[in-house]
Amino acid sequence: MSARHSVSTALLRNVPLLSVLSEQELDLLSRVVARKTYPRGSQILGAGGPTDSLYILISGRIKVFMSDLDGREVILSILGPNEFFGEMGLIDNSPRSANVVTLEPCELICISKADFKRCLADNFEMAMTVMRGLVKRLRDADNLIGSLALLDVFGRVARLLLETAEVINGEKVVTKKLSKQDIARMIGASREMVSRVMKHLQTAGYIETRGDNIVIRENILLSD
Ligand code: CMP
Repeated sequence: MSARHSVSTALLRNVPLLSVLSEQELDLLSRVVARKTYPRGSQILGAGGPTDSLYILISGRIKVFMSDLDGREVILSILGPNEFFGEMGLIDNSPRSANVVTLEPCELICISKADFKRCLADNFEMAMTVMRGLVKRLRDADNLIGSLALLDVFGRVARLLLETAEVINGEKVVTKKLSKQDIARMIGASREMVSRVMKHLQTAGYIETRGDNIVIRENILLSD
């Protein structure tokens, strides 16, 4: 279930993907795009479903995942504000490649296929931003394939924490809430194994928990 709101050009101008558009284009777009809010746990896209729109996150986080009939999940990515999804099906006209569910209450902008294609055709910089996004996803997927084949669970957890961390006052800190179940689903391991590894990393001083945050020590990659 979602609620619909109107969209201002100021809101669109603040979205990096759209910031390259002219005032006139932003004005045109503001009349045709939809702004929607979703509660936590809402399914926005389903794998195999029809491809009719592009989505841009204004606030909140979503997970992109695949699941089997037994309900087992692999998380392909967790996306946050200003990131977009649903572009793959619009570009190659194939069904949705994955499921998308909100992890928190989310606010989204929804652009129809026709409007998205028109904007891309008229704006090389916007097309480049979409391509950069696709290249980043391919790089991340390559890294994940590499770590699944080459690293043990210690290495995979360490790599995921380092990739998720931001530098705050010279320290690497994971501020995004990641449950052990989420980590397990992102690195192809069991939740129990991830719990054991995290405990070991903490006891050995490679990571430190501070409130909701995890601080990572420089030597974590030597942890296995
Ligand atoms: P689409 O296939 O249209 O619908 C599902 C969307 O999930 C897809 O477009 C992408 O926007 C997004 N998606 C699929 N795979 C990944 C990935 N590996 N990393 C980040 N986002 C992805």
